[in-house]
Amino acid sequence: VPIKIKNICCIGAGYVGGPTMAVIANQCPDIKVTIVDLNAQRIADWNDADLTRLPVFEPGLAEIIAATRNRNLFFSTDIEQAIAEADAIFISVNTPTKTYGSGKGMAADLKFIELCARQIAKVAKTDKIVVEKSTLPVRTAEALKDILEHTGNGCKFTILSNPEFLAEGTAVQDLLFPDRVLIGGEESLAGKNAIQALVDVYSKWVPEAKILTTNIWSSELSKLSANAFLAQRVSSINALSELCEETGADVQEVAKAIGMDSRIGSKFLKASVGFGGSCFKKDILNLVYIAKSLGLNEVADYWEQVIIFNNYQMKRFSEKIIKTLYNTVSGKKIAFLGWAFKKDTNDTRESAAIYVADYLLSEQATITVYDPKVSEKQIQYDLNYLESRPAVANIRGVSLGLDPYEACKEAHAIAVLTEWDEFVDYDWQRIYDNMMKPAFVFDGRGILDVKALSEIGFVCSVLGKST
Ligand code: NAD
Ligand code: UGA
Repeated sequence: VPIKIKNICCIGAGYVGGPTMAVIANQCPDIKVTIVDLNAQRIADWNDADLTRLPVFEPGLAEIIAATRNRNLFFSTDIEQAIAEADAIFISVNTPTKTYGSGKGMAADLKFIELCARQIAKVAKTDKIVVEKSTLPVRTAEALKDILEHTGNGCKFTILSNPEFLAEGTAVQDLLFPDRVLIGGEESLAGKNAIQALVDVYSKWVPEAKILTTNIWSSELSKLSANAFLAQRVSSINALSELCEETGADVQEVAKAIGMDSRIGSKFLKASVGFGGSCFKKDILNLVYIAKSLGLNEVADYWEQVIIFNNYQMKRFSEKIIKTLYNTVSGKKIAFLGWAFKKDTNDTRESAAIYVADYLLSEQATITVYDPKVSEKQIQYDLNYLESRPAVANIRGVSLGLDPYEACKEAHAIAVLTEWDEFVDYDWQRIYDNMMKPAFVFDGRGILDVKALSEIGFVCSVLGKST
């Protein structure tokens, strides 16, 4: 019998659960979607009448929430009720790198996933489609099935893998116009029916040709592979950036020249101070761990190099600042433009800014940050998470500027860590006038107009260009 999904529960109201479900609710008014989370504050924030206070900032998201919330999109802490009512349950919880025990620092921590499976099994009274939306190690569906079947009340669970490919900052566009939607499932009749039910949901707005169905293991592994390939491109161009600086080549020109080859393609070739974000590092480490566990050491080493190089790039940028500032930043003020891991998001997880700040703080610099979307509390949280020094030392060393001009006042140097558009249009003369001289600028994103800045008097250093 064909299945029709009428009621969806999504466990996890984060950067993926929130936007993904809001778009499903928006495109499928006949489906009731309930997003649940253990974190009551997060749910309260999603329900906030003031849409500027939603927990996730994404262009276009507030409008979709306004149109759907309390119509067919609900945010709730009543996890059990939402599970009981749903035909399909999406698991969108976090899958961070393990911080303890075997696989520490590499493997994905699946405790949140397992908790979800046990809760679903406990509550379910009717058959359910369980959808893996979180990024998971290949073969997790097997473990999920085991838990569900051994602890359930005799109902049938069909597991699908439906990884999410949205990028932060463009989440709504990526969800409305995805390059593809990937759905992996079992070859059995139940598996095929479940796949078709989910295809029917997406095909309300995604052309069928872009909905790809595969076996469940291909789907799980494709998600880790896509992130590994994307991160590898960034490390590849970043590895060339240093070579450009030493040879007089310009990394932006090289990127354009190679990107015009249709086999290479022009996207994702921006040299940077290093990739950040909650997923690239975690997912590659996970891939490396899986390969190592299978004894595939060459495969593991190949992919690990993408991370090793990214760490090097962040360190190299920090060292360049110190070296240029006459080999010492002790007691000097450095202004950071940007703290988020990329523009148009308030997310700071694994941002290169955190690591550069940590490095400079160890050299006794004082840092003032300006980011249009990041709070002082978040910055302190990010630094304390590294456990490099006591919290009081981070408070003493790093503060938030109320505006960019205040942040840059009396600074010896400015470092651009995020590529926010507004940075380009600042009154750079005004910034220059209030800085210490020589006034140094380190553009870690290659976004500033170096010629104009040099004419004002700045001493500029741009990643991937010799100066
Ligand atoms: P997140 O930390 O923003 O959100 C996860 C939420 O799950 C949190 O609010 C947490 O409280 C909740 N949660 C955890 N355990 C729970 C439980 N047992 N019951 C109820 N709620 C629970 O994480 P995220 O960025 O949304 O990522 C979620 C998953 O999606 C990860 O596997 C990630 O790799 C993947 N992913 C993320 C992105 C991205 O851009 N952030 C993109 C694609 C895929
Ligand atoms: C990335 C992928 O692009 C998504 O497809 C995937 O769903 C997601 O990870 C995930 O699984 O979490 P995201 O991390 O949100 O999305 O953002 P990206 O646009 O991929 O940027 C990641 C990092 O790489 C950022 O720090 C960005 O500044 C950096 N980057 C990106 C570069 O330095 N150069 C580039 O050319 C592109």
